[in-house]
Amino acid sequence: MVDQNSEQSPPAWQVPAPPPLTSPPLTSPPQGAHAAPPQQSGFPTPPGPAPAHSYPGAEPAQQWGRHQGDPGPSVQDLTSARLLRPTRRAPGSGWRRALYVASGHTVNLGESAEDVTRRELIARINQPLRGCYKIAMLSLKGGVGKTTTTVTLGSTFAALRGDRVVAVDANPDRGTLSQKIPLETAATVRHLLRDAHRITRYSDVRAYTSQGPSRLEVLASESDPAVSEAFSEDDYRRTIDLLELFYNVVLTDCGTGLMHSAMKGVLDQADALVLVSSGSIDGARSASATLDWLDVHGYAALVRRSVAVINSVRPGSGKVDLAKVAEHFAARCRAVHVLPFDEHLEEGAEVELERLSRGSRSALLDLAATVADDFPRASARNSQREGGTPTAELHLPWIPSASIM
Ligand SMILES: Nc1ncnc2c1ncn2[C@@H]1O[C@H](COP(=O)(O)OP(=O)(O)O)[C@@H](O)[C@H]1O
Ligand SMILES: [Mg+2]
Repeated sequence: MVDQNSEQSPPAWQVPAPPPLTSPPLTSPPQGAHAAPPQQSGFPTPPGPAPAHSYPGAEPAQQWGRHQGDPGPSVQDLTSARLLRPTRRAPGSGWRRALYVASGHTVNLGESAEDVTRRELIARINQPLRGCYKIAMLSLKGGVGKTTTTVTLGSTFAALRGDRVVAVDANPDRGTLSQKIPLETAATVRHLLRDAHRITRYSDVRAYTSQGPSRLEVLASESDPAVSEAFSEDDYRRTIDLLELFYNVVLTDCGTGLMHSAMKGVLDQADALVLVSSGSIDGARSASATLDWLDVHGYAALVRRSVAVINSVRPGSGKVDLAKVAEHFAARCRAVHVLPFDEHLEEGAEVELERLSRGSRSALLDLAATVADDFPRASARNSQREGGTPTAELHLPWIPSASIM
């Protein structure tokens, strides 16, 4: 890490006091002083951040003694970036990885472009988040993959982020969210609300959720349709008030349609909206109608920061031009993503990220990274909210992205 020369001369921090004051202080050198070659001035001036030991033969005492105004080296200089030799990252996948492993880590051809892209997406997904980020998963039509997308997106966040992620089933009728992970408890959101006064620690709330292999937790809805009909806006707000104490990301699998009892609570609390649509014409029309409805009911800001997902519930896109559908949503939403048809998801059973196709996994990484791009803005909105400033009209620079990934 340190070159050989440095070991022969004493390190700079051992250098004693500055020399006697025969030389003028150099705290504010005259113009052009730095331009003078070191040999002429006799005071070698290391250019930029080069360390002292890069001047073999120079007297460290002279170097440091002359610069009385210079604070000298400090612990800040000992950054890993300066001290560690740059090393090439090991390839993460493909034949490069195979060669790296087979050669006992001696042949390192570095990362492929795909590895780099993946690493960058993961870094975006891991952006710091202040407070609790609430994502409303919405669709006007049933069967378009809203619950499936809630689980796959939530699992992607849970698997890659170190913090806690929970998905809440807010379907007024018997929701299917809890069927997508192995069930650990029969408790539902009703039980959580009933016992809310007793919940003070994470381990308390964890008793009401089931956790999948990705670490995503799911809070199930009431399975009795007669009871769940009563899951009101106020119930939803109380649920979120509790969950946001313990979780960093909360995804809500909303019931189909916009008029059910908890919907106003969901929309009012949401930091982001993920609008799920199928690639069919009627699916796209109802998704667009959802945006119209939100626009005229006071949620225009939420629409502008929504992300549209065109989910392929059937293999192939048939005759529908998905690029045109995506273009339509790109003009209205922050971004559009297409999720491919996936044989594992088609089973409609428990979801395991490892069993998804490569295409699905990379589409989900893209989607999660786009959603996470709003985390810093949400943190800013939360700070404003805490400061008592209205947040709905923050005039943040929303640039509708036409990225179809
Ligand atoms: N990307 C996908 N690829 C293949 N099949 C899918 C996909 N997304 C959803 N499905 C299928 O569609 C069915 C309905 O999805 P679901 O998420 O329950 O829809 P919703 O919640 O909108 O009613 C699932 O059971 C599954 O069989
Ligand atoms: Mg559903």
